[in-house]
Amino acid sequence: DSDEEAGEEYLFKVVIIGDSAVGKSNLLSRYARNEFNMNSKATIGVEFQTQSMDIDGKEVKAQIWDTAGQERFRAVTSAYYRGAVGGLIVYDISRRSTFDSVGRWLDELKTHSDTTVAKMLVGNKCDLENIRDVSVEEGKNLAEAEGLFFMETSALDSTNVIMAFEIVIREIY
Ligand code: GTP
Ligand code: MG
Repeated sequence: DSDEEAGEEYLFKVVIIGDSAVGKSNLLSRYARNEFNMNSKATIGVEFQTQSMDIDGKEVKAQIWDTAGQERFRAVTSAYYRGAVGGLIVYDISRRSTFDSVGRWLDELKTHSDTTVAKMLVGNKCDLENIRDVSVEEGKNLAEAEGLFFMETSALDSTNVIMAFEIVIREIY
């Protein structure tokens, strides 16, 4: 595919999925540009950022794709997942309904991508401890049952954001 034609360096496609407003776009902007937007608008269609990291002295590039959580704004599903080798499945720890949706997102990812895709379950907004609606334990248990990595993150205060992306990218590499 076109990623392979791009050349000699390593370029990996990673997709971010999850319900609307869980913080997918802010996780990406925090990781790629160290930016956070308190009033970010819902994503329409698809956006991506390419981010380089150094693994064992080699430059590894991840092309990270972000789409809308809302069905009506989503990109063509099959095109979005095509060629993905990593996935972050994101929920909001302060909104249980977003955790309940994780199974559906996983099904979609499995339907449209290879079984070898490295997957990270991400409980975002861990800064909102005072209104937590999903325990760390529940996140861990689901990840273990589904064979996913797990991390709680905060795009707002940067907790574990780099870690979440880099664990997935390292696993692919
Ligand atoms: P869609 O594009 O509609 O799928 O949403 P999204 O998942 O991309 O969510 P987005 O990044 O736009 O964030 C939604 C809202 O949550 C925004 O108001 C963000 O400022 C806020 N937000 C994102 N991450 C965090 C976080 O870690 N902590 C807190 N407190 N708020 C966050
Ligand atoms: Mg978005």
